[in-house]
Amino acid sequence: MKLAGKKIVLGLTGGIACYKAAELTRALGKAGATVQVVMTQAATQFITTVTMQALSGNTVYTDQWDARIHNNMPHIDLTRDADAIVIVPCSTDFIFKLAHGACDDLLSTLCIARPFGMPLMVAPAMNVEMWQNPATQRNIAQLRADGIQLLGPAAGDQACGEVGMGRMLEPDELLAEIVANFQPKLLAGKHVLVTAGPTFEPIDPVRGITNLSSGKMGYAIAQAAREAGAIVTLVSGPTALDAPYGTNRVSVQTAQQMHDAVMTALAQHRQDVFIAVAAVADWRVANASTQKLKKSGDRDMPQLQFAQNPDILAAVAALPGRPYCVGFAAESENLLQYGAAKRVKKNVPLLVGNIGHSTFGQDDNELVLFDEQGHKNLPRADKQTLAGQLVAEIAARIR
Ligand code: CTP
Repeated sequence: MKLAGKKIVLGLTGGIACYKAAELTRALGKAGATVQVVMTQAATQFITTVTMQALSGNTVYTDQWDARIHNNMPHIDLTRDADAIVIVPCSTDFIFKLAHGACDDLLSTLCIARPFGMPLMVAPAMNVEMWQNPATQRNIAQLRADGIQLLGPAAGDQACGEVGMGRMLEPDELLAEIVANFQPKLLAGKHVLVTAGPTFEPIDPVRGITNLSSGKMGYAIAQAAREAGAIVTLVSGPTALDAPYGTNRVSVQTAQQMHDAVMTALAQHRQDVFIAVAAVADWRVANASTQKLKKSGDRDMPQLQFAQNPDILAAVAALPGRPYCVGFAAESENLLQYGAAKRVKKNVPLLVGNIGHSTFGQDDNELVLFDEQGHKNLPRADKQTLAGQLVAEIAARIR
């Protein structure tokens, strides 16, 4: 419930992407937000007020003369207890109106009349030529200069059949942006490199050795770092998870590939923080077969030989000018003793301990942070919450 207690004024303007606003309304509600929908007349051509009222559970307003508000001033009253205004979709015309301070309908007047400092986010949705038109680009520059936050647009297939920039972000991407807007920017501009998930070490082309890591904790940390304003690279072993919106995911399979991808990321850009969350296989099969191994009788078992994999965390921690390194330890017992010892052995300032087999694949976890001062518990919570707390702990240590 990342938006618990938040009130969002959701403005709809005319555009085929209004159908995505319906899904966003549900997602905002599921995330704990109260949604107050305001629509322009043009928006009502694309989706009805009945639909938006049913989905938001609140009366939908379209008219600045609406007498249902007790003082007859919907353009004032609708935003006074709101936390943000979000315009989804935001048409070319409405961008023009915002850039010039027009107030000729309820939504534009409400935007102008919003309390000072209230975030206004807009999700442009239009044809590629309309987006690229110099007039639109002038207006977009004005919005940016006025502190109005742009959510997208993205490039891709458009409702009109053309392809290019101007496609509105998807509802889950918009939700990620809105959630991020409310998070303190504790890692603003910092480059954060995260490893996550298991590795997969082939035995032959169809078999391999892996582990039960789902990647959920590492992905949650990547997302929390991004929400805190960081530029995030996520080097991930095989998982079923979508890359958190706004992160740069590099997918790998083996420990060696993960090591190489981490080193490439470090060579491409100085990283401020390295968080090794991945459950990396300590060994690979040295005599992996290029062809599928066949059963050839009860006595003739395959003889696997193992070779040591590179220790990625140790390699990064040994670099001159290393990033702030955070290790993870998945133990099965004696966490306090093993965690403290592993932090020293791995030569990292912060090590995060958890009981591996009781967290792999689960949605919640409990963590113990080990640093030079001793240890600190982060009590059981869902992984998103813990990730946010861990990011705050890291930000406090690198400040
Ligand atoms: N790690 C890594 N590369 C490896 C192995 C581990 O980067 N080849 C990182 C993990 O991502 C984690 C930390 O090192 O952040 C601890 O991993 P763990 O496997 O618990 O440590 P080991 O030193 O292998 O100790 P153990 O004897 O408990 O396996």
